[in-house]
Amino acid sequence: MLTAVVTVGVALGASTGAVAAPDRPGEARHVVGSDGAGDAYFPYSGNGGYDVEHYDLDLTYTPPSPAPAPLAGTLEATATLTLTATQDLEAFHLDLRGLEASAVSVDGRPAAAVAPPAEGESVEGAAFWQVSDDVQRRWELVVQPRPKLKAGTTVDVVVEYGGTTGRPTDVEGSLYGWVTTRDGAMVASEPDGAMTWFPSSDHPTDKATFTFGITVPEGTVAVANGLPAGEPTTVDGWTTWSWDAPDPMATYLATASVGNFEVRPVTTSSSGVPIHDYVDRDLTASALSITNASLARQPEMIDVFESLFGPYPFVAYGSIVDDDTLGYALETQTRPVYSRQASEGTVAHELAHQWFGNHVSPARWQDIWLNEGWATYATWLWNEHRGIRTAQQAYDTWYAAGRAPTYWALPIGDPGPLNLFAGQVYDRGAATLHALRLEVGDEAFFAGARLWVERFGGSAATTQDFQALYEEVSGLDLDAFFDTWLYAPAKPPATWSS
Ligand code: ARG
Ligand code: ZN
Repeated sequence: MLTAVVTVGVALGASTGAVAAPDRPGEARHVVGSDGAGDAYFPYSGNGGYDVEHYDLDLTYTPPSPAPAPLAGTLEATATLTLTATQDLEAFHLDLRGLEASAVSVDGRPAAAVAPPAEGESVEGAAFWQVSDDVQRRWELVVQPRPKLKAGTTVDVVVEYGGTTGRPTDVEGSLYGWVTTRDGAMVASEPDGAMTWFPSSDHPTDKATFTFGITVPEGTVAVANGLPAGEPTTVDGWTTWSWDAPDPMATYLATASVGNFEVRPVTTSSSGVPIHDYVDRDLTASALSITNASLARQPEMIDVFESLFGPYPFVAYGSIVDDDTLGYALETQTRPVYSRQASEGTVAHELAHQWFGNHVSPARWQDIWLNEGWATYATWLWNEHRGIRTAQQAYDTWYAAGRAPTYWALPIGDPGPLNLFAGQVYDRGAATLHALRLEVGDEAFFAGARLWVERFGGSAATTQDFQALYEEVSGLDLDAFFDTWLYAPAKPPATWSS
C-alpha cells in the first residue's frame, strides 16, 4: 500500500523495523538502510544504503530578538537531497537533531517519515554520552519511499523542517552546530553537528556538493561555503544570500553563518584563488587589528602551502570572523569561522585544513590526528617561512617540555570520542609528522604529502592508508614508527629527534 501520510512526531515502536513492510512474493528483498556509517566513535552519524550527491539548502532564519529576550532563533527550511541508493531500500535514515520535519517527499511523492516525539525528553544542549541510546536513535528521521528504491536509483528527497534554534553541544560539551548568537548564528559542526541544522548523512565518508539560499532580515548578512551565486536579493524586508559550493564537502564543513558582517572587497592569491572575507562589525579595536593583519597574509599563506602541498583544492577561500560565542575556530570548507578574532597562527592552521581534513577527510573520527597534526605542522612550517622559528626548533621545544604522565598516556591514533580535540592530538600529531620527515627524509616526506592530497583528495582516508602511502614513497617498513608515535601510551624515544 502506498503510504501518503506524513507521520512525524509519532513514535512507531522502538526499532526502525517498525516501518518495514513485507516485500511482495517474488520481489527482491528490500532493506532498511542502516542508522549509522559504521563509525566506532559516533555510531549514529551518517547512514547506510545510499550516497548523497547534492544538498540544496533553502533556509529562512529569524535571529533572536534583542536581549533580554531568550537567545533563540527560528529556522524554517527546505532541504533537497539528491541521493543514490546503494541497496534496494524499503526505508532509509537521515540524521536530524532538535528540529522537526513537517513533510517529506521522494521524487515528488509524499513519503512517510518517522521522527522522535517532540514532547518528553529534551535533548537540547545534551551531548550524546549524556543521553540514552534510545534518544540518540531518535536523532534520526526514517523515510519510507514509495515506490521502494532499487539500488542504483537516484532520487530527490525533499524535507520541509524547522524549529527553534538554541546552542547545541558536542560530545565534549563544546558549542557546535547551529549556534545562535545575539545577531545571528555561528555555524560550525565538527564532528557531528550538521544534523542540528539540516537532515543529512552526517559523516565525512559521504561527501556531497552544496547550494544554499539563506533568507535573513534585511541588513543581516548570511555567509556559506564556496562562491556567492549572484548578488543578494531583497523582497519585503528579507534578503536572500545564495551560495554555490561545487567541491565535494563533508557535512561538518558546511556553514551558513549569519550576522552583522562587513563584506570585504575580494582579493586573490597569486594562483588566482578568490578570497571573500566577512568580519563582524562589532569586534573590539584590538581584535580587529589582529584580524586585519592575519587576513592580509592569506594570499601569501596560500602561495606557501601550494608550494608545499600542491594546488589549493577548492574554488574559493576566505574567512568569517564573528563574536566570542563559539570560543574556537573551525576550518569550514573554503571559509573558516573564527570566534572573537583571527590570529595569524590560527589562520594558517585553518587554511592548511583545506588540504588536510577538507580535501582529504578522515574516514573514521579516530583518524582525527591526520587533520589536527597536519594543520599544526603546517603552522610550524609557516612560522619557519616567517623567520620566527624552524620546524626543527618547534619540534625540539615540544620534545623537551616537561609534561604530566597523562599527556603521554593518550594514544593519538585512537584518542576516543572525548579526546578528539585534546592538545596531544594537535602537537604530538605535528611532532609525529616531523619525526616521520626525519625518518624518511625531506624528499619522500613532501612528495608523500602531495601524493596523499592528490590520491585521496575529494574523498576520505584512514591512518592505515597514510602509513601504506609513506611506506610506498620511502620503501621503508613503518610499523614500529607508527606504533610508537600513534599508539604507544608513552613518550617516544629521542631516536627520531636528531
Ligand atoms: N578543527 C578545529 C580546529 O582545530 C577545532 C574544532 C573543535 N571542535 C569542537 N567541537 N570542540 O581548527
Ligand atoms: Zn584544526
